[in-house]
Amino acid sequence: MINRDPLDASLATVKKAFPEATPQLGMILGSGLSDIADAFDPLGVLSYEEIPSLGKAGVAGHAGRLVWGKSAGIETLIFQGRRHVYEGVGWEAVATPLFLLKSLGAKAVFLTNAAGGTHPEWTPGDLMIIDDHINMMGVTPLLGAHDPFWGARFPDQSFIYDRKLRAVLSRAGEKTDVALRHGTYFAGTGPTYETPAEVRAWRTLGADAVGMSTVPEAMLANAAGLRVVGLSCITNMAAGILDQPLTHQEVFETSQKAMANMKKLTLQFWQELAKEKL
Ligand code: HPA
Repeated sequence: MINRDPLDASLATVKKAFPEATPQLGMILGSGLSDIADAFDPLGVLSYEEIPSLGKAGVAGHAGRLVWGKSAGIETLIFQGRRHVYEGVGWEAVATPLFLLKSLGAKAVFLTNAAGGTHPEWTPGDLMIIDDHINMMGVTPLLGAHDPFWGARFPDQSFIYDRKLRAVLSRAGEKTDVALRHGTYFAGTGPTYETPAEVRAWRTLGADAVGMSTVPEAMLANAAGLRVVGLSCITNMAAGILDQPLTHQEVFETSQKAMANMKKLTLQFWQELAKEKL
């Protein structure tokens, strides 16, 4: 159950800080990906600490700032860092970016994350367009009393990751020469990484990338009628593929190396989108 009071308080804060904001798009930047915000001309910045239902980002590599910016003439709210289920901060913190975007009139959201790759032939630094997801968190943010803000009681999930936006992202990849893979993102709650046996199991079930985020956000956005596009940065091979342990340091370092490609791709995606009718 998502409590509306803290979300309403956050909306009031953002409206006060950015009274002129009418974002068309939102972007949520995952682990180590905060610098993608450099691809936008900034119009304003607000620290997460000032947004009641978000609070200080608790994970290293998450800047914890909301940037109001523009690229290719498209006004965008960029969330530098996210809150996660595993932080135990409640669904309100996870739902805040989607609530703000929907409330301020945005039409779509671009979700990014750092993820482990399950294919031995994939390489850290590869980027993957999320075609679909598998929720292995054992829970969804929409459990509880129905709040029509988040759409129907039983949201359809057949087309969460918008086909047209995925095609636009593919086109941005071709134009920038950034190779893009496609696949299914598989989410557990974390904060533990998977065991090698789990990675083998999830891969058998259809996982191409494994992570600890994005899925609740995509479900909320989809339910609320925001179009969704998602990109995973494969920061490491998932557990057991290589004979070495996983560390957040590796995740962070790989995302830094992939940054140039992510920025190029983001800039081009916004340019391609400017030619489309959202
Ligand atoms: N597993 C889960 N989450 C992750 C991983 C991983 O291998 N890499 C980055 N986030």
